[in-house]
Amino acid sequence: MTAILHTGDPARGALWQSIFAQQVPEVDFRTWPDVGSAPDIRYLIAWTLDRELVARLPNLEVLFSIGAGVDQLDLSCLPPHVRVVRMIETGITTTMVEYVAMAALALHRDMPFYLSEQREGRWSHREVRFCSERTVGVMGLGELGRASLERLRQLGFRTVGWSRSGARIEGTPCHAGEDGLGAFLAQCDMLVCLLPLTDETRGILSRDLFARLPRGASLINVARGGHLVEQDLLDALDQGQLRYACLDVADPEPLPAGHPFYAHPAIMLTPHIAGVTRKDTAVHALIANVRRALSGEPFQGEIDRRRGY
Ligand code: NDP
Ligand code: OXD
Repeated sequence: MTAILHTGDPARGALWQSIFAQQVPEVDFRTWPDVGSAPDIRYLIAWTLDRELVARLPNLEVLFSIGAGVDQLDLSCLPPHVRVVRMIETGITTTMVEYVAMAALALHRDMPFYLSEQREGRWSHREVRFCSERTVGVMGLGELGRASLERLRQLGFRTVGWSRSGARIEGTPCHAGEDGLGAFLAQCDMLVCLLPLTDETRGILSRDLFARLPRGASLINVARGGHLVEQDLLDALDQGQLRYACLDVADPEPLPAGHPFYAHPAIMLTPHIAGVTRKDTAVHALIANVRRALSGEPFQGEIDRRRGY
């Protein structure tokens, strides 16, 4: 018997159980806490990991992440042979692209300023520019970075990209690694972070990086709160080095009551809703990967555990 164990949202677990029963009857879909016979479980699907649960699964082969990112999973719980696969699915990509487009347009059209003016009962204007007069740079040219760049280009923004190994993207000049970072940042009127959170990228959105952006640039962080050095952002906004920030992620989540980001007039804050794993679409990505596991084909989205993404 081959079984998969789902942990997390019970409503999602129940829906996926019924879909698996119809589409992949050869795999027994179980939902936490109904583990059943633990040695049957070869696949686990989770947002975060429970060390005690993993220790009860002697035949675990693959961990499927509910999310596109894997940093929230404590992979030290897993024996080294267990493969880790992140979620690549239409729901996450579509909602992320919509959010990045919304954030870029909102900052481009000075929405934080106008919302603050509205609250203060003032009626004043800022200069209006075309999208084609602003360059948006995306850090991280994976699944979500590339899809976001495509939409930003369609909106008329000039675009530029940066990643570890570089990429070829039509219409978007791309830079690579530490050597390419300065030239990339110097062009960004708006900077979008879509990097995975790893030892190399933690704290990358810092004073030093902000200083390499054109004065008055804006930041959109839709990756992880751990990428950002919070005080450096507040200083950069206060000093005018940055104009606005749109933050969908924080560390910790939720931010504690009274945190300065909540009331800052130059910050737009949302509670980690940029890219959302959809129950109705993600199940098909999971089924496709479970079928690959059964037939020994390569997964879509397997991470390199040593590299962390
Ligand atoms: P991918 O793994 O597809 O892409 C990652 C990209 O980042 C790659 O281009 C990679 O470069 C680059 N990269 C990794 N490390 C470095 C580094 N040290 N320096 C420069 N570039 C680096 O990830 P996704 O696009 O699917 O997702 C990105 C992140 O978005 C997730 O890890 C998650 O944290 C976040 N996310 C946030 C959501 C939200 O709701 N806010 C929802 C979903 C995801 P290379 O191509 O050279 O390997
Ligand atoms: C993800 C997320 O990684 O929701 O998918 O942040």
